[in-house]
Amino acid sequence: MANLETTYLGLKLKNPIILGSSGLTSTLIQVKRIEEAGAGAVVLKSIFEEEILKEFEQTVDTHIEGHQNYEYYDYFDYKIKEQNLARYTKLIWDLKQEVNIPIIASINAVSNHEWASFAKKFEEAGADALEINAFILPTRLNKTSDEIEKMYFDIIDYVLNYVSIPVSLKIGPYFSNLPTVIEKFSKTGIKGLVLFNRTYNPDIDINDLKLIPSKIFSSDWEYTLPLRWIALMSGRIKTDISASTGIHSANEVIKMLLAGAKTTQIVSAVYRQGLSVIPKIIKDLEDWMDSKNYTSIDNFRGTLNNSNVSDPAFLERIQFMKYFGDREDII
Ligand SMILES: Cc1cc2nc3c(=O)[nH]c(=O)nc-3n(C[C@H](O)[C@H](O)[C@H](O)COP(=O)(O)O)c2cc1C
Repeated sequence: MANLETTYLGLKLKNPIILGSSGLTSTLIQVKRIEEAGAGAVVLKSIFEEEILKEFEQTVDTHIEGHQNYEYYDYFDYKIKEQNLARYTKLIWDLKQEVNIPIIASINAVSNHEWASFAKKFEEAGADALEINAFILPTRLNKTSDEIEKMYFDIIDYVLNYVSIPVSLKIGPYFSNLPTVIEKFSKTGIKGLVLFNRTYNPDIDINDLKLIPSKIFSSDWEYTLPLRWIALMSGRIKTDISASTGIHSANEVIKMLLAGAKTTQIVSAVYRQGLSVIPKIIKDLEDWMDSKNYTSIDNFRGTLNNSNVSDPAFLERIQFMKYFGDREDII
């Protein structure tokens, strides 16, 4: 029977299915249920710099008179951060007493180096690894690509200075030269890259003429974007890659592994189908491996990446010209 064990960030996982960072991984009870369902590891809901600052602003606005006095800011800023951190740290500590699968803490750091020091507290609480959720949407006209990339490298530097547990970086695809930046990230000392985070995108309501949120959950065709980049990069860097976005069944898991991912992270599939999707994916992955006579993940992982396929240009093709040129019948 197929052995699904794998390693990720130097950790031993019983299978490559990770429940990704989300509201699903924010409480002890839920994580215990995720472990029971068979997941190989979990990434906890991120602790957000933005969220804590917002909570701080609201508290200051509504509860303090004379809050223009900066001493009040300092006091509340400190208190609120401490409360959030204490909650998060306790969750990690409790989880380490009660579950056996690896617990990866997640921190959303976009700017402030101060946040790196919190990573240390998560390490002390027992987190097995840390995922930095550093998705910076490059919307400003006055920032160069170098300046934006520097923000990522600064965050990595700060965090790596504070912790000795393995660190992974979760990014989006919006870089002007994605392969180069991925290669540079891989040389910083981080142990993993999560490709890709999925943005919460705005949409427009054409009846009420207003901005509305678009779909929160991914669809099962969205996996092709990370699939391409994982296949293009996995043979060229030593850093582990974890696939994220659009993984809804064992089919996408298998494709990501063939492309060279070490692990796969699922979120929307669990929101939509419930926790039973985890044992189903594991069983379907096992059955597929048995049908191909693969006894371990390493038998096939990366066999369809850029370094191993006979036609790597296929991964770089972006135009449909020939396809539509030949298919006049469909119009
Ligand atoms: C409701 C919800 C909450 C999320 N919260 C976080 C978060 O706190 N930190 C993070 O790094 N990603 C977060 N994500 C992104 C997911 O971890 C994941 O990268 C993304 O949903 C794509 O994977 P999927 O297609 O399996 O949903 C969240 C996603 C959803 C749907």
